Amino acid sequence: MKVHTYERAFLILGGVLLVLCMAALVYATVAMGIHLPGRAGEIEPGKVFTTPPFDNPGVHQTGPNQYDVVIIGQAWRFHPMEIRVPVGAELNFIATTFDVIHGFHIEGTRVNMMLIPGQISRLTYRFRKPGEYLIICHEYCGAGHHNMYGKIIVE
Ligand code: CUA
Repeated sequence: MKVHTYERAFLILGGVLLVLCMAALVYATVAMGIHLPGRAGEIEPGKVFTTPPFDNPGVHQTGPNQYDVVIIGQAWRFHPMEIRVPVGAELNFIATTFDVIHGFHIEGTRVNMMLIPGQISRLTYRFRKPGEYLIICHEYCGAGHHNMYGKIIVE
């Protein structure tokens, strides 16, 4: 069988590039030690209620105008069900779940996260206006999905 010269050249070029890419990958992982940073952001789903900060869900002041808001999603509620936060404060939402995938959306805001068993979700937000805001689970999570909501009172 006769292979055209250009065709042969491109076949060889493709083969060489493939080998170079594999070599670069091996070099980066083995020789340079580049890899994902450990187990940061992960959590054992079965130990959520005993693992800090989830052993103490709720609002915790961390600075002059800064708060951690620790929330656990569960079929079909949030822990805690209701929280109070000051208007204008920097709120660092830290949330997870231990059973199935849930959503965490605060009505009328850009706060929108997925809660995934084994993962910790984080997001920072400031409320500009006082009022009552609904927290809604927006990932279908079973028969009680439509009853899964919480409340944030901004004052
Ligand atoms: Cu939780 Cu839908």
